[in-house]
Amino acid sequence: MPIETVPGPEKVRFDRVTKRFGDQTVLDGLDLAVAPGERVTLIGPSGSGKTTILRLLMTLERVTDGVVHVDGEPFSHMPSGPGGKLVPADERYLAPRRRRVGMVFQQFNLFPHLSVLANVTEAPRHVLGLDADEAAARARDLLGLVGLADKEDAHPTRLSGGQQQRVAIARALAMRPELLLLDEVTSALDPELVAEVLDVLRDVAAGTDITMLCVTHEMAFARDVSDRLLMFDRGRVLESGPPGKLLDAPEHERTREFLRSIR
Ligand SMILES: Nc1ncnc2c1ncn2[C@@H]1O[C@H](COP(=O)(O)OP(=O)(O)OP(=O)(O)O)[C@@H](O)[C@H]1O
Ligand SMILES: [Mg+2]
Repeated sequence: MPIETVPGPEKVRFDRVTKRFGDQTVLDGLDLAVAPGERVTLIGPSGSGKTTILRLLMTLERVTDGVVHVDGEPFSHMPSGPGGKLVPADERYLAPRRRRVGMVFQQFNLFPHLSVLANVTEAPRHVLGLDADEAAARARDLLGLVGLADKEDAHPTRLSGGQQQRVAIARALAMRPELLLLDEVTSALDPELVAEVLDVLRDVAAGTDITMLCVTHEMAFARDVSDRLLMFDRGRVLESGPPGKLLDAPEHERTREFLRSIR
């Protein structure tokens, strides 16, 4: 498949990225570009590499081959020596760049021993160095945004799954990420709690210019929020397009089959 081009500078670019686990090739020479402010949803069968893409952007995994760029700069790699030859990025290079990326997972992974407020202030205080008042003010704004202003003293174990996930969203936003990664953030929730989390994400999408890369099986949400859908199959993009096109008139039988399986 040809490299997808997007106008202007790119927020994210995967340049022939291959990721192997042992002898299993999960991403196979993947080319992918996301424009600043773009909302892209990844769909595709289990095991097709969607989470791996997000984990590479969180620097939780390393590429086997190829280069990941963020903001037009190498991200998986860094220039080294007089010739600027690319070598795998070290921690010092990665630390400031990783802060621009936030992620919300399927399992909320809140700190169970900390209050809701402390969950949201923890990283801004310890990673960004905000003082306690500044971090608390930022956290309270965000808890308001996710509809949990009255829960700041609660412990996560006392909250519903939907409320916990909304705290996790506030926690990610507290770092003011430029790129937000969402990995099946509603799939661990009881059905009646899904809508409240998706509504919060709709507000985030409408109220910010954060670039969003989202994995979801919630196609109504994907249709509302996404500029573009990418259908993955075996570590490659099988087809891509605006949600209306991909969901209503997919080109590939594999995409039709996948969409039938999740509806
Ligand atoms: N740390 C790891 N070690 C070994 N194999 C892994 C690791 N992480 C992922 N894999 C394998 O890579 C493949 C792709 O995994 P990935 O989690 O990216 O898929 P996915 O598209 O997110 O699937 P799902 O829809 O089930 O979440 C799977 O076969 C998985 O078993
Ligand atoms: Mg996954």
